[in-house]
Amino acid sequence: MRVVGRLQSPVLCGHRKLLPPLLCRVSSIPRTVKASAAAMADTKVVKAVRIHETGGPEVLKWEDVEVGEPKEGEVRVKNKAIGVNFIDVYFRTGLYKTDLPFIPGMEAVGVVTAVGPGLTGRKVGDVVAYCGNPLGSYSEEQILPARVVLPVPPSIDFKVVASVMLKGMTAHVLLRRCFKVEPGHTILVHAAAGGVGSLLCQWANALGATVIGTVSNEEKAAQAEKNGCHHVVIYTKEDFVDVVNNVTSRKGVNVVYDSVGKDTFQGSLQCLALRGYMVSFGQSSGRPDPIPITDLVPKSLFLCRPSLMHYIESRDELLESAGEVLSLVSSGVLKVRVNHVYPLSEAARAHADLEARKTSGSIVLIPDSEL
Ligand SMILES: NC(=O)c1ccc[n+]([C@@H]2O[C@H](COP(=O)([O-])OP(=O)(O)OC[C@H]3O[C@@H](n4cnc5c(N)ncnc54)[C@H](OP(=O)(O)O)[C@@H]3O)[C@@H](O)[C@H]2O)c1
Repeated sequence: MRVVGRLQSPVLCGHRKLLPPLLCRVSSIPRTVKASAAAMADTKVVKAVRIHETGGPEVLKWEDVEVGEPKEGEVRVKNKAIGVNFIDVYFRTGLYKTDLPFIPGMEAVGVVTAVGPGLTGRKVGDVVAYCGNPLGSYSEEQILPARVVLPVPPSIDFKVVASVMLKGMTAHVLLRRCFKVEPGHTILVHAAAGGVGSLLCQWANALGATVIGTVSNEEKAAQAEKNGCHHVVIYTKEDFVDVVNNVTSRKGVNVVYDSVGKDTFQGSLQCLALRGYMVSFGQSSGRPDPIPITDLVPKSLFLCRPSLMHYIESRDELLESAGEVLSLVSSGVLKVRVNHVYPLSEAARAHADLEARKTSGSIVLIPDSEL
């Protein structure tokens, strides 16, 4: 039996307010296995997208894979909707490393189809979601450690849940933990019509901040406005540093949330006020160039490069983060824009569109058997 996925970093679990007391022991490794093990009695064949070599979207292959029975501390989940995130591109291209071959994907919602021996707190038929590790959500069915799964309130649409776990918890980390946005703050958000950007802008607006958002075209500008941006910059046409200077009377913004990276990083630093926070959390345009620490001195700037996984390491942190996101979705403060839905078999098209900047809001894959 050959393992094609492995734990990358600490995993996620459910929200205490939504769950019976959790859950079970830490399991080891997700056990999606190669079809060559077909003779094994405890496996079933499902369709999945698998990567054998890193590269462009064409390396996403639609294949039969085998999924085993859940072991102690595990559940098997039949996915209903799968979130696409830019981090999936980083793994596909090899920017982020994992063992080959692997099934990508770090976010999904589905129904429990089997539970491991002795497991309490989860049962067949439960609707659950997860995000983060293990990789492997681009599959009709997958094995998950029970401690990473989160029960889903029945009122929330599957596509919305699959859009809001990873992106929403990222927004929580950025706005409430890296830098605490308060009424009166002015903030700059790049890619303000994107998956994370849409949630960031809505949430920051609700917190009372003045939100300046950047986008690449008119259509996305309209979406950024709907996301609560008070000022929208089309950064392919205007210099966002100039706009920030005008809007803030040259004082600068309190924080920049920069997921674009290489193309925006230097300009973002220029937009900051004295003692401003540069929160660099992604690299959609490529890794930002290194800077000498002395570049922070003229304005006593703070520089932070957060990863969601490090803010949900403990169960309590995860529960708090997931609970806050889901309650803001339920109350309508966060409107999740599921603007793109593809069959799982067409994940390559979803990746190509994401990288070509053709998408806005969230992208969701639906297993072909569920269409
Ligand atoms: N640190 C963390 O823990 C964490 C967690 C989640 C996500 N992230 C990061 O957050 C970012 C957003 O993720 P997402 O899944 O929501 O994606 P997304 O923002 O929906 O898509 C990326 C957007 O970035 C903008 N962009 C600018 N230059 C680009 C380029 N050269 N190539 C492609 N896109 C470019 C595009 O918007 P415009 O067309 O408007 O420019 C594009 O739509 C990613 O960088 C991701 O790595 C980080």
